[in-house]
Amino acid sequence: MAKRVNTVHTVEDLREIVADWRAEGHLVGLVATMGALHEGHTSLIGIALEHASRVIVSIFVNPTQFAPNEDFAAYPRDTAGDNLKVAKSGAHLIYAPNNEQMYASDFSTQIFVGGVSDGLCGAARPHFFSGVATVVAKLFLQAMPDITVFGEKDYQQLLVVKRMVRDLDLPIEIVHGPIVRESDGLALSSRNAYLSEAERAVAPLLNRVISDIASDVGEGRAVAESLEAGRVRLDSTGFLVDYLELRGAENLAPITDIAERPARVFVAAHLGSTRLIDNVAINPSTEQRRT
Ligand code: PAJ
Repeated sequence: MAKRVNTVHTVEDLREIVADWRAEGHLVGLVATMGALHEGHTSLIGIALEHASRVIVSIFVNPTQFAPNEDFAAYPRDTAGDNLKVAKSGAHLIYAPNNEQMYASDFSTQIFVGGVSDGLCGAARPHFFSGVATVVAKLFLQAMPDITVFGEKDYQQLLVVKRMVRDLDLPIEIVHGPIVRESDGLALSSRNAYLSEAERAVAPLLNRVISDIASDVGEGRAVAESLEAGRVRLDSTGFLVDYLELRGAENLAPITDIAERPARVFVAAHLGSTRLIDNVAINPSTEQRRT
């Protein structure tokens, strides 16, 4: 049986443990999560363990990245299940601060990362990325890890965090975690728990559509035409599309020519009351690659 993993709730306790690890010469990794852990999260822990000899998993459902009409109250919480999964994953510590620990009643600071937070999820959820950047900066400064792993599932978030770390000279290496999917292609997400049986049955279409766009565009089909065909497929299956776009993989700049730089297809769509996001890389066929 996996060993129980210790949980700390305060910055003081966290820092004490990290200081001991540092004194012993360990490299420290952090995987930031909002809990309700699944194999997407545990894959990030596995990657962190390849880079660091001690790994912290933070679990905090961050209120400031939810708008009032969003699912903060309903967001799945599963402390017992999370403890078991973290223990099995081989991570060394859970950091689960409470709201008072993270946000003083007169908390007044916000980090706004421009550029990469424009458009895509930043357009539909304007509050979102400053909520994420601020809480991630706090987690970084609380734990002071050497490395951290962020999933490509939330690709724009990953780039926002990378930009913040670069701009603020935070001495933390950011490692990408590939998207973990169900066997039918649906990206694992804590929010998949909201899907009804019927919605769950159509949900994999989201990935199929963007994968088809990626291969069509990779083989030379016009970008606009390919995106339009994908949108029609999603519309006609009951998805309400928030965005379906091709963007540069390094900085999310709009892109029309895939030979210019690495590109990805990004989608967000509502299925009933659940908002799903996904993205895939475009691998241009040899003819499409300019030499
Ligand atoms: P959460 O949604 O719990 O995700 C935590 C981390 O797990 C993120 O880096 C996310 O990209 C990654 N992840 C989620 N599903 C994944 C999948 N199917 N495959 C690979 N990685 C996956 O993202 C957040 O929490 C929050 O915004 C947070 C960064 C913790 C700040 O509050």
